[in-house]
Amino acid sequence: MNLVQIQSLLLREIILTKSSCYRWSVLISALDSLQKPVYSIVEIGVNQADCSRFLRLCFPLAHLYLIDPWELGSTYRASDGPITTKESVMEKAFNKVQNYFQNDSNTHILRKTSKEASFLVPDSIDLVFIDGNHDYDFVKEDIELWLPKVRSGGILAGHDYDLRGERFSGVKRAVDELLGSNISIGKDSVWLYRKG
Ligand SMILES: C[S@@+](CC[C@H](N)C(=O)[O-])C[C@H]1O[C@@H](n2cnc3c(N)ncnc32)[C@H](O)[C@@H]1O
Repeated sequence: MNLVQIQSLLLREIILTKSSCYRWSVLISALDSLQKPVYSIVEIGVNQADCSRFLRLCFPLAHLYLIDPWELGSTYRASDGPITTKESVMEKAFNKVQNYFQNDSNTHILRKTSKEASFLVPDSIDLVFIDGNHDYDFVKEDIELWLPKVRSGGILAGHDYDLRGERFSGVKRAVDELLGSNISIGKDSVWLYRKG
């Protein structure tokens, strides 16, 4: 085992202990459970990379595709309105992500919509995490676009599956319709689907 691997194992322990109830810990555990090397991870809807930073720490060698248009008008919360109404806030989030990953040649920041980026990302992805536009039509489209790009045995997952269907009803509806009872629900309202 080399130094990078030892470092990431230690970090993984700290992250899983200190933030076990967050989406990144759910995703890290799900990837660990595959018991295979992780080569590629896609996050749709990145914002400030709160989640992908942890994924990067635990999977330092994986190709990370970070997809977000970082523009106003791209709805996030159907029920709560957009994530921000200020262009400067989006620009700040984008700059933060760029700065954080600036020396990381395995991270590909795609300032595009999920659909635009789906044509640019290679197939056979280990994990696709859907956390972009939460409206029904978009979540449905994301599942349809990205499930074929997940490798066999890999994971398609997403955020904000509200079991009561009150806050993000579009997420629950789209996931239920397309994936039915084949999903599992983790902490932080993460839904997970293991591709057969
Ligand atoms: C909830 S935030 C993402 C948070 C991030 N996944 C995390 O865990 O910290 C949602 C993001 O989705 C982005 N978004 C909205 N529509 C999108 C689309 N069509 N494709 C990709 N990203 C989109 C928004 O710009 C916003 O930054």
